[in-house]
Formats: sequence, C-alpha cells, structure tokens
Amino acid sequence: MSTRGLILAIESSCDETAAAIVERGSRTLASVVASQIPTHARYGGVVPELASREHLRAVVLVVRAALDEAGVSFADLDALAVTSGPGLAGALLVGISYAKALSLALGLPLVAVNHLEGHIHAVLLHERESRLSTDPASATKEEEKTRAPEEKEKTRAPEEEEKNALALVVSGGHTHLYLAQPAHGSWHYSLVGRTLDDAAGEAYDKVAKLLGLGYPGGPWIDSLARFGNPKAVPFAFSQIKHKVHLGDQAPRTKAAKTAPIAALDPHFLFSFSGIKTAVLRYVELNGLREGVERRAAETLAHPRPAQTREEALALCPQPVLDLVASFQHAVVGDLMKKTFAAAEALGAKRILVTGGVSANRELRERLTREAERRGIRALFPATKLSTDNAAMIATAAWPRFLAGEFAPDDLSADPALALGR
Ligand code: KG4
Ligand code: ZN
Repeated sequence: MSTRGLILAIESSCDETAAAIVERGSRTLASVVASQIPTHARYGGVVPELASREHLRAVVLVVRAALDEAGVSFADLDALAVTSGPGLAGALLVGISYAKALSLALGLPLVAVNHLEGHIHAVLLHERESRLSTDPASATKEEEKTRAPEEKEKTRAPEEEEKNALALVVSGGHTHLYLAQPAHGSWHYSLVGRTLDDAAGEAYDKVAKLLGLGYPGGPWIDSLARFGNPKAVPFAFSQIKHKVHLGDQAPRTKAAKTAPIAALDPHFLFSFSGIKTAVLRYVELNGLREGVERRAAETLAHPRPAQTREEALALCPQPVLDLVASFQHAVVGDLMKKTFAAAEALGAKRILVTGGVSANRELRERLTREAERRGIRALFPATKLSTDNAAMIATAAWPRFLAGEFAPDDLSADPALALGR
C-alpha cells in the first residue's frame, strides 16, 4: 500500500455528484463535480427521484475523472470516504453503495463523513492549501519582506488550527452555528444555534423562484443585488423570543431536522421563512408580479446571472432589483448579527463561514469587515469549495482515518444525521 495519505471521497447528498482525491487532508489532487442544476432548474428545486437517477448515471464517471485528473490509480489510494448524511436518502445511498463496493473490491478502509463536518473542513483545506502555496520556508528573506499583508495572513502558523472556532454552516439545507474544538487531531462539535425553519439558502432559492429568477437562486440574487438599493425595502428580523413557544415539537423542515431545539440560546436561533413571505407580500402589494413568467422563461433558457447593469435592467425593473438587494442585505445582516453574538458569548477569535451561501459576495465583504473591526479572523473556503464538493469530505475523513475510525459494514444513509452534541 502507498504511504502518500491519499483519500478518494465521494459526495452525493443532494444535487451534485462529486469525487475528489486529497493528500493528507491538505492538498487537493483532483476535485470533480457533476452538477445536476440543468435537471432540477425547470422545477425550481431539487426533485429527489431525479437526483438519485442522475447520481447513478454520474458516480462511476466522476470517480474515473478524479483518478485521471490526479494521475493516480486505485492502487495508490490509502482509504475511501463517503458522505453518510444528512441529505436525501436515495441520493446518499448511491454514493454509499458505490463506496462500499469499492472498499470491498479494493480492500481499502472506508470512512463515513457527516456532510456538515465536510463543509467545515472545506475552510481548513483552503487555509492549508493557501499556506502551501505561500510557504515562507520556500521564500527568501527579501521576498518575505515584500510579501503583501494578505499573503502574510495566509501563512499564519498551523497552531491556529489548534484553537476553538465558531463555524457558521449556511447552505441550502442548513443554517447552523457550531463551536468546533480541536481534540488530538480530530474535532468535537457543539451545536450553538440553528434555523428553526428554512435554511438561508432555501430562502434565497424560494425568493428567486417567486421572482422568476433562475435556480439555484443564490448566485442570481448575489449578482443582481449589486444593481439595487439595499435600503429600499426595510425587511426586519424580529428577535426570536424564546424556545418555549416551540415546546418539544418536531421541527417542520428539512433544515431543522438535523439538530435538537432544546438548550439553545434564542439569540443564536435563525428563522428565514418569514422574510420569504414578506417578499411575496411586497411583490403582490407593489404590482411586481408582472414579468415573472417572462423572466422565468428567460432565466431557464439563459442560465447565467446578469453581469452588467444593462443586462440586469433588461431582466428586472429597478423595483425588483431594489427588492432583491434589500432581501440580501437583511439576510446577511441577520446572519452576521447572530454569528457575532455567538462568537462574543463563546469568546471565539476565529469564525469559519462555509456552505453554499458562504460564496455570497456581500456576506464575505460585510462579515470580513466586521470581524476585522472586532479583532476576529473570519475564514471562508475558496468559492468553488463553498458549494457541495468531495474535497471537503476527503479532508474531514483524514483525521478519522488516522484515528482508525472506519465505517461499519452495515453503513447506511442517515438523512437526518446530526453533527456534534
Ligand atoms: O452547500 P450547498 O451546495 O448545498 C447544500 O448543502 O445545501 O448550498 C447550496 C445553496 C443553494 O441554496 C444556493 O442558492 C446557495 O447555496 N448559494 C448561494 C450562493 N451560491 C450558492 N447563496 C447566496 N449567494 C451565493 N453566491
Ligand atoms: Zn452542502
């Protein structure tokens, strides 16, 4: 067996079939993502049955493509990893079944990874790769003196990774805050906050759909928001009073299923279903429904978000652009408010922001600025590591592989798999 520390990971929890090969949890040799966006776009959301079918079609091909891209063969691998939950049951099962078959056929250990832990490790992978690409050990003294501050920042010592961090996982399925604590090479997670209903990405997707914008909605709203006035519509998030009114009721949405309600400080709880309804009411009261159908047809036919003001205006009248900008401004503000409140309460000096919504430009800019003001480091994955991918799964699997934490023979999909305590 090789000793390169190569893990081949497979991710199929939602609508991306992905395979990646990562060396020692710190260097990506290959990362291949087969997106199903065109399949689901016409429905404005993921259709689980179609997702499973597309994963079946793609999984063997993406694994082969990852091996080719990395220039390695199955014989070079040390272990396999696969996402075991949370996610769509049928979709997860495709990846799990294939990973188990490979593990048996190749005689390689299999590591099961929680998708949410994977997202957190996307940030760590990005940090490690940035360090490698600007390794001060390989720079001369002169080069070191002239290195830009942001480059120096990237080369911070890995000891940083040994400290507690607050992680905001904000995606289409989740909006969760965790305290992530390093413990002898692996990590412990404690749930600090989460959404009670829709995830932030879900709100982006639903608002985009009701405005006739493309799927997934996040990138569309992100790109159109630049051309609107963020103060035009004063959306507000009221403070969630207390969890008492929820009692021990089972959460109603997929986003809320993966973590218990009890014992969370209400200041760290999110709720995004109200703003979606507020947008709908605003659209109806202000006569903005006109053009939605035409826009939906156009965005389906041309699935690239507008890049210039002219393109944006050709697609949406100014009041719609203002609405989009105001929606995003409010969501980003709410994510920041609760994240910084939790960081302050926990004394966290590092915030890891990850998941599909962490690709958002306004979130990155505003959160980074506020973190600097507070003397906190805000870290994001590279944009392509923000959304679902398998490199993050291989990275999260590495410490588990070292600790000998392998998947049981009867590993199955756990659609509501929780992370941490
Ligand atoms: O992490 P991800 O790929 O899948 C899940 O685990 O859910 O996240 C997908 C979500 C979608 O809701 C999508 O609209 C959102 O991330 N998203 C964005 C952006 N890019 C993707 N939301 C806001 N701004 C973006 N630039
Ligand atoms: Zn995800």
